[in-house]
Amino acid sequence: MSIYLDNAATSFPKPDSVTDSVYHFMKYIGANIGRSSYSKAQKAGEVVNETRQLLCQLFNYCNPDHVVFTSNVTEAINLAIRGIVSKGGHVITSGLEHNAVWRCLKMLERDHDIQISTVPCDRNGITEPEKINELIQPDTQLIVFTHASNVLGTLQPIRTIGAIASQHHIPFLVDSAQTAGAYPIDIRADNIDILAFTGHKSLLGPTGTGGLIVKSEGLIRPQKAGGTGRDSISPYQPEYLPDSLEAGTLNVSGIAGLGAGVKFILNKTVEAIRNKEQSLTDYALNQLQRIENLTIYGPCNPEKMVGVISFNVNCVAAVEIAYVLDEVYEIMVRAGLHCAPTAHRLIGTESDGTVRVSFGYFNQKEDVDLLVFALREIISKI
Ligand SMILES: Cc1ncc(COP(=O)(O)O)c(C=O)c1O
Repeated sequence: MSIYLDNAATSFPKPDSVTDSVYHFMKYIGANIGRSSYSKAQKAGEVVNETRQLLCQLFNYCNPDHVVFTSNVTEAINLAIRGIVSKGGHVITSGLEHNAVWRCLKMLERDHDIQISTVPCDRNGITEPEKINELIQPDTQLIVFTHASNVLGTLQPIRTIGAIASQHHIPFLVDSAQTAGAYPIDIRADNIDILAFTGHKSLLGPTGTGGLIVKSEGLIRPQKAGGTGRDSISPYQPEYLPDSLEAGTLNVSGIAGLGAGVKFILNKTVEAIRNKEQSLTDYALNQLQRIENLTIYGPCNPEKMVGVISFNVNCVAAVEIAYVLDEVYEIMVRAGLHCAPTAHRLIGTESDGTVRVSFGYFNQKEDVDLLVFALREIISKI
């Protein structure tokens, strides 16, 4: 039996309700939304609106029209950053960003002369939010932070960062790729102006889904123009949400599945899911720390992390360990840089990366036991 420990890349398996919902939509509804008025088109519109409402419920936000769908969080983040930051502007970010944020900023730095300030963090990815105050400039246009590192698992103090951003009237964008659905997020209490989410990780939806929840109308300049089904006579993109940021046909069947994923989470509760993943992380850390010749990175404190653990077996390349885990033991993990080079620079693993195991709601302690057994056996043969 194979074991899936790559939930930080995408969650697997999905709840049956998610696959059923995609199937049901494609088989029995199948229409586009907002374009036509026959009953199936209206039904399709209801499916999408219901998913907007469920996401609002999950993240404690009040206006479903401010939920904008994109094809993943990378597209959502690019839309937000490019739609807020203008030529020569200044942006503050963490030292742990995924390339979804980092490359987007670096390309704006190269092509549009923006300035980037990185908030220092320690080797475990712990950030002191007060340091942000020293980096704020008159032309700071955005603060963008990942909620949890996809390499070290370390949670970032977004509530405090959001409060600082709000005091200075700077929009605060959060990349929730590693937390949405697995850790509580409250847009209002966490002082988030724009929440970027991806549908296919802990939200348990299909690939090809993601989006933004945007607090204020007009905060993000549209980056795409095209059909939305409304105000078609106007030569310009509508100025109201979600149409201002949603041009072209949405991934409606994927959004149907995402809605089912969010319903599953709301039924189980985020707190219960968090507790399960936290205790699994605790158990795994305890077991892994007992293995000789294995270096674990990050805070090694389950309260400060999501269910993502990076490690290396001393003197063996991460890719080799991942290969043997898969070939011999049918254990699926990820090796390499995980699209987050700055985090690797922090821990000194930018040449080979790390082996990363990441848990999801459906993992069990037995999966950890088999991983630990396999690693012990591999190390004993080195
Ligand atoms: C922190 C973080 N941000 C962004 C992304 C990009 O996600 P997606 O490929 O769904 O756009 C990931 C995916 O691994 C991630 O871990």
